[in-house]
Amino acid sequence: MNPIIKIFDSENALFRNAADIVLGRYQDAVKMHTFFSIALSGGKTPLPLYRLFATLQSEVDWKRLQLFMVDERFVPYRHADSNWGMIQKILISQIDIPSDNCHPIPILGNAQDSAIAYESELRQIFHANHYQIPQLDLMIMGVGADGHTASLFPGSEALIESRRLAIEVMHDHVRHSRITVTFPLIHHAKQLMFLVLGDHKAERIHDILVKKDDQVPATLACRGKGEHLFLLDIQAASHL
Ligand code: 6PG
Repeated sequence: MNPIIKIFDSENALFRNAADIVLGRYQDAVKMHTFFSIALSGGKTPLPLYRLFATLQSEVDWKRLQLFMVDERFVPYRHADSNWGMIQKILISQIDIPSDNCHPIPILGNAQDSAIAYESELRQIFHANHYQIPQLDLMIMGVGADGHTASLFPGSEALIESRRLAIEVMHDHVRHSRITVTFPLIHHAKQLMFLVLGDHKAERIHDILVKKDDQVPATLACRGKGEHLFLLDIQAASHL
C-alpha cells in the first residue's frame, strides 16, 4: 500500500492531528476487539504527542489500552536515556492505566535475554503461538537522519531477521546496546504512523518516499500490508 503523506506548517497542527489519529484508532479498535494495542517509539520527536495523549482523559478508557514499546536502550528505566523512563514520566504517571496493561521491554541480565522475554510477552498478550505474529493496532515510528527506524540501523543484521519479534542490537554509533522489535512484527501492524521533523531528515524522507531506497531501514518498514502514514513538517518534506 502506498504511504499516506501529510505535511504541516506548524508542529502544533502536526501533533494535534497525530493525537486525533491515535484517538480514532483507539475508538475503532475498542469497537472491534475491546482493546487497543499501541507501540511507542523513543527519541525526542514523539514527546508532544505523548503529552497530548495524556490529556485525553475523558475520551480514553485507559483499561482498554495495551501499551508496548518499539525499542529500548539497554539501561535501567531510571537512566536518562531510557525510553520507558521517559514514557513513564510524561504519559504513564499522568493516566490511570493498570500496570498489567503496560509492557515495557524488560531490562534483564543482557540484551538478548530482554529481547527473548519481550517476544514471549508479546505472544502471551496476543495469545499468539510460535507460528503466529501478533497484530498491533498502531505503531508510532520515528526516522533517524541515517534512515533507521525503531533500532533497525542501516546495514544491521537485525534487518534480515525473519522469525524473532524482538532482537538485541549493537551499533557503533549508539551509546548503549538496544532491544528492538523486528520487521515481522512491524510488517504485521495495522498502521504505522511516522513522525518526522526537521530539514536534517529531508534527504532520508526523499529516499524513503520517492526513491523507495531499500538500503534505508524505514523504507523496508513500509513493506507490510498495513497502512503507512507519514506526518512531516515542511522542513522534513522539503525534498519531496
Ligand atoms: C530511539 C528510537 C528511535 C527514534 C529515532 C528518531 O529509541 O531513539 O525509538 O528509533 O525513533 O532515532 O528519533 P527522533 O525522532 O527523536 O529524531
